[in-house]
Amino acid sequence: MVEKINQLMAEVKAFDSKNPAEIEEFRIKVLGKKGELNRLMEEFKAVPAEQKREMGQKINQLKNLAQERIATLKAEAEAGAADAASLIGDMTRPGSAEQLGSRHPISLVRNQICDIFSRLGYTIADGPEIEDDWHVFSSLNFPMEHPARDMQDTFFIEKNSDEPNQKDVLLRTHTSSIQVRTMEHQRPPIRVVCPGRVFRNEAISYRAHCIFHQVEGLYIDKGVSFADLKQSILYFAKEMFGENATIRMRPSYFPFTEPSAEVDVSCNLCGGKGCNVCKGTGWLEIMGCGMVDPNVLKASGIDPEEYSGFAFGMGVERIAMLKYGVKDLRLYFENDVRFLRQFDSAL
Ligand code: PHE
Repeated sequence: MVEKINQLMAEVKAFDSKNPAEIEEFRIKVLGKKGELNRLMEEFKAVPAEQKREMGQKINQLKNLAQERIATLKAEAEAGAADAASLIGDMTRPGSAEQLGSRHPISLVRNQICDIFSRLGYTIADGPEIEDDWHVFSSLNFPMEHPARDMQDTFFIEKNSDEPNQKDVLLRTHTSSIQVRTMEHQRPPIRVVCPGRVFRNEAISYRAHCIFHQVEGLYIDKGVSFADLKQSILYFAKEMFGENATIRMRPSYFPFTEPSAEVDVSCNLCGGKGCNVCKGTGWLEIMGCGMVDPNVLKASGIDPEEYSGFAFGMGVERIAMLKYGVKDLRLYFENDVRFLRQFDSAL
């Protein structure tokens, strides 16, 4: 009898199934009315009295083991079935659409600006965000006392005012620094656009932020004239704002260009008639530009007698605001998905 019990114990331990019907069959075989356990109980009656205690304990052990094993297997089978059901689910249920991400409006507009200029033969240049005074200011003909060098506008990382100014380490305030780096390493003809993040110490408001994005451009070759500049910008404006866009140039000042101009594009919301976006003028300012100052060419080792060029620079946020009618610049930085989703289908 002991042998029989041990054999059954081993059988219970070894039994494994995920199939509820199989588990039930096994339960009936062991624990059922006409099962093995009841048969043992019958035999137990004939066990000599002095062995009853030991044998009874064994039978009880077997019973507990069988009950536990079967309960565990049943629970596992049920959980498995639930998993399978949730995997397959209701086959008649309508499919759920995949949520696709969207590009950030600033990336969309930056890419579009770069695409337009690449069609004119420009390549894309990159440079570091942490810069030195030379590449951001000195080489670009900024006089020593220029207010843009002031702590108010520039985030200085290391200010070594006792040393020659070139040693200052700062966050670039414009991507013109990339143009300087390009001129250092490349000989004309040069035709590059320089997209990137720039940093200025400004109070954050609906129209200003301490971080924003620029795309600047540089074209240097023999015989480049202001007419080339104007035509390139007009082409850009029409590609960006539509065939009917026109531009006007207002004289301006930048240390690194001479002559310099500010470019306005005809307001694409009112068609130039005047509205609250263009403040009734019919024009929207989009960029600064000008002919590269001979001093800047010289600083990068390019002979201004032989070569001339133009440069331009625009704020990506500003162009995106005009293109999409966004009134508050801070929306670009908050990453509210309700705002970002609106650009799902853009481009
Ligand atoms: N660097 C200027 C700025 O940050 C823009 C500019 C670039 C103007 C090139 C003229 C020529 O505002």
